[in-house]
Amino acid sequence: MHEQHYKIPDDGYADYAELARSLESLLAGEPDLIGCAANTTSLLFYGLPDLNWVGFYLLDAASGDLLVGPFQGRPACVRIPLGRGVCGTAAAERRTVVVPDVHAFPGHIACDAASRSELVVPVVDRGRLIGVLDLDSPRRGRFDDTDARGIESLVEIFVRAVRA
Ligand code: SME
Repeated sequence: MHEQHYKIPDDGYADYAELARSLESLLAGEPDLIGCAANTTSLLFYGLPDLNWVGFYLLDAASGDLLVGPFQGRPACVRIPLGRGVCGTAAAERRTVVVPDVHAFPGHIACDAASRSELVVPVVDRGRLIGVLDLDSPRRGRFDDTDARGIESLVEIFVRAVRA
């Protein structure tokens, strides 16, 4: 077992540069998709403030749907067809979607009633859709451009790790 260097401050939260360094260390030398996804969600859940759910939805080749993968938070809906909800929209259009108020997003799929805002980043490797990374917050307007770009950079680190 190799040593892993990552830290989440005991008394606060990490910025994206620190999260990027932590994620690099956490995933180094381990290409397993599920293992890397599980640790990524934990790092984010405990490293960022005001989140009630963080998880992956992974593309299921057999059905073409997104299926819930590793996550932190309350139990969530298992299957999301491409194009449905915030996750299915981000996956189908392969673009990051920031939803300041989920109640104002037509077709939003409510898994945890506490969720008020959401950020979904597609996970794509060399043109191949792997799934999406979904973050939910109980606070309206929790996610801005800094979060979108920050999570995109972490997804790039994740994609590079599992490609190896
Ligand atoms: N709200 C998402 C569904 C997944 S949960 O938030 C965990 C959506 O509309 O796609």
